[in-house]
Formats: sequence, structure tokens, C-alpha cells
Amino acid sequence: MSPYEKKHNESVSDDVVWHHSTVTHADRVQLKQQKPVVLWFTGLSGSGKSTIANAVESKLLSLGKHSYLLDGDNVRHGLNKDLGFSDEDRVENIRRIGEVAKLFVDSGAIVLTAFISPFISDRQQARALVEKGEFLEVFIDTPLAICEQRDPKGLYKKARAGEIKHFTGIDSAYEAPEQPEIHVHTDNLSVDECAEFVVARLEAMGYLTAEERKFQEDNSHAL
Ligand code: ADX
Repeated sequence: MSPYEKKHNESVSDDVVWHHSTVTHADRVQLKQQKPVVLWFTGLSGSGKSTIANAVESKLLSLGKHSYLLDGDNVRHGLNKDLGFSDEDRVENIRRIGEVAKLFVDSGAIVLTAFISPFISDRQQARALVEKGEFLEVFIDTPLAICEQRDPKGLYKKARAGEIKHFTGIDSAYEAPEQPEIHVHTDNLSVDECAEFVVARLEAMGYLTAEERKFQEDNSHAL
């Protein structure tokens, strides 16, 4: 039984049973030759989560890694378009993304998620869905004042004017990670430096090898 089947033992009803697949998680991992993992980016709106996650994904591509980026704004156009920004809706947003991330990990991919995901308990739940070592919290630590100054979508301005309610950091909480596996202090770093920091940490933690990194450096000009 795959670890993912075990984690699905709460059936919705007795009439719904797990269907075993012939191709296993181990088969997919073997084919892809990589360590599947969720890189769970969290941080305020405008902190750089999506931009840095994008840059990390490009670097993973140049290493020949199979990845997929789930981005908050994009997912809210499709899968989660029925959800708003009340605490309840954010909980459901993150619950669904946790489940989707688990499916990607089961497929053998490296999945990057870029959601504010403001609540510690929701991030813990997403972590609990996958095996130990398959979830790394990546804290994009950009102070609120800087996010607000950047205000790329003009949303902080609207939130301050009371035109948007429940805006994270203004009138809705952001619970920073206490012990993120990867803590990116973005101040004074370029996007590329932040992405490089994440990739270096992945190497240090054994998710990428030094040989693969060397290959990336040699080939980065080709992309
Ligand atoms: S989360 O809190 O549920 O994790 P998510 O990452 O999906 O949020 O979406 C955040 C994005 O939605 C922000 O980057 C911003 O562009 C937009 N947004 C619109 N309204 C809000 C709001 N009230 N609070 C935070 N982000 C909002």
C-alpha cells in the first residue's frame, strides 16, 4: 500500500473505497529520478512568493526536474474560484491546495505552492497529508511595510481605504512560520539571489545533488 493510500483511510462513506493503481508511487519516482517534495511558499501579499517560486521552478527545470507551480491568484481563477477571503474560505483554499499538492507528490513531481496561507494550523494540515521529508515550508520573509510600499496590484491602498475587507496584514492576520525549513530574508536580495538561496538549501538538505547543480551552472546559458 502506498503512503498516500494509508493517508486516505477516512472514507466519505462505506460505498467509496480506494482503488489501487497498478503503477505505484515508487515506479513514478524511479522514472523521474528525483525526490518528490512540496515547496510550500508562504508570505504576505506582495512579498515575492510567486515571483521567487517561478524563478526556483526555472532553476529546477534547468536541472531536468519535473515540477509544477500552483499559484494563489491563478488557482483562484479556476479550482477555487468559489472562494473569497474570509477565514473560513482561506482555510478551504489551503485545504484543497494541500490535497492537490499531495496528488502531485504522489505523481513524483516537485510541487511549488505560492499562497499567502496565513494560518499555521492550515499549513500544518497540508504538511500532515504527505510523508515526513516531503514538505518544506519556504517563508518569504518580506516586512509588511515593504510589501505595502511595493503594492504591485494596488490592493494595500484599497485595503487601507476600507475598499477591501479582510486584507492580510491589514485587517486579517498573518501567522509567520515558527521554524520554516527555508527562511528567505528578501531584504537586499534580488529575485535571482532569493531563488538561488532556495536551491542551495535544497541541495544542502539532500533534495538536489552537487552534480545536478554543476549541470545547471554549465547549462544555464542555454535556457
Ligand atoms: S490565501 O490567504 O487564501 O492563502 P491566496 O494566496 O490564495 O490567499 O490569494 C492571495 C491573493 O489574492 C493576493 O496576492 C491578492 O492578489 C489577492 N487578494 C484579493 N483580496 C485579498 C485579501 N482580502 N487578502 C489577501 N489577498 C487578497
